Amino acid sequence: MAVNLAPDQQEQILAAARAAFKNAHAPYSNFKVGATILAESGAQYSGCNVENASYGLTICAERNAIFAAVAAEGTAMRIKAVAVATERDGPCAPCGACRQVIFEFGPDALILFRGQTGTERMAITTLLPEGFRL
Ligand code: THU
Repeated sequence: MAVNLAPDQQEQILAAARAAFKNAHAPYSNFKVGATILAESGAQYSGCNVENASYGLTICAERNAIFAAVAAEGTAMRIKAVAVATERDGPCAPCGACRQVIFEFGPDALILFRGQTGTERMAITTLLPEGFRL
């Protein structure tokens, strides 16, 4: 069952994600992304995308936020919700790789991202049906 989150908490993590993209290192794409994880513990962790001159080494905002959460809480960390924001305020659903990483730690996670017509809210299983598990 997908997580239900109070509207004020949704707005709060979207605002945190918006704040997070300010530190993005995106000189190659000029596309700054911020992500904030709300963990089951109640703690929040933010990340931004960090690009590299060797393009393939780029890491997305979502994975940076998730890895910070795991580094802080350990392997038992579980994701309740993820908010994603971009500088352009355009639609930015998590990429396929990030969806799989979100699913690992939050199979019931709620994903929030700003679309052209407002905020999109969907379960990770809608974005990633049949996520991979061992
Ligand atoms: N990016 C993210 O940070 N998250 C996503 O879900 C999609 C893409 C970043 C990677 C790269 O730095 C830039 O956006 C353009 O692809």
